Amino acid sequence: MRPFLKWPGSKFRIVDRIKEQLPPSRRLIEPFVGSGAVFLNTNYDNYLLADNNPDLINIFRYLQSEGTTFIEYCRTFFTPENNSEEIYYIFRQEFNNTKDNRLKAALFLYLNRHGYNGLVRYSLKGNFNTPFGTYEKPYFPEKEMLYFFEKSQRAEFICSSFEDTMSQAIPGQDVCYCDPPYVTLSSTANFTSYSAGGFGPDEQLRLAKLAQGLAKKGISILLSNHDTEFIRQAYSSAQIIAFDVQRFISCDGANRGKAGEVLALFPGCR
Ligand SMILES: C[S@@+](CC[C@H](N)C(=O)[O-])C[C@H]1O[C@@H](n2cnc3c(N)ncnc32)[C@H](O)[C@@H]1O
Repeated sequence: MRPFLKWPGSKFRIVDRIKEQLPPSRRLIEPFVGSGAVFLNTNYDNYLLADNNPDLINIFRYLQSEGTTFIEYCRTFFTPENNSEEIYYIFRQEFNNTKDNRLKAALFLYLNRHGYNGLVRYSLKGNFNTPFGTYEKPYFPEKEMLYFFEKSQRAEFICSSFEDTMSQAIPGQDVCYCDPPYVTLSSTANFTSYSAGGFGPDEQLRLAKLAQGLAKKGISILLSNHDTEFIRQAYSSAQIIAFDVQRFISCDGANRGKAGEVLALFPGCR
């Protein structure tokens, strides 16, 4: 099943490859859940799903607790009158100013489906600033939301840094799938802006170290990223699977085209 949000770096198209590598266990932990493509297409008893984007966790929690009531509320924003540049910017401002978290959650879906290319972009002050997308009739993802709602009854959502999420992993019950923002392919490419703050080489290396630490504690951990020298070095003690994938994330072309992908497995050893 497709995720109900458009999300940069979504793993929907390579979910089968990821599933092949993910070891069985009771619970799957995703410290970088994004749109939840792996969560939606795997079958663990339980999930701990985390991301440091509070708007994402906010909408997941409303959908999880309200189901169809929330879906119908979201639908009221998807009208032909609301599909205009003028209304989009009014709603975007409302989204950035409101203290009403339920309204914010519904507006997040509206912005995600009416904004440019599903970009998730914030200003340094933390304001959502993706421009209008000009779609003839933005799709309302009802069936995708229903599926997410049903599956989310087995999940716990937390807004947290990857370090805090990974510290909650328990040997003997958990495996972990980490899909951090991609390491950039060129010095000018800079599309990853899921939230204020960034994810640079220091964070990538911290993640690789934490992964080794979890594996030593007996928790298997699978990571994905671009296939670059830097990533091969960082994951040198892991089992590496490399393949090609066509991607269309960047609007400036810097990251467009064929980019190698790696899956790195640190098997839990104890
Ligand atoms: C490549 S996306 C994950 C995509 C996801 N696997 C999917 O299929 O949709 C990376 C995610 O990491 C989140 N993120 C960025 N920095 C983070 C951090 N320091 N801690 C936790 N999550 C972070 C972003 O908000 C984004 O949702």
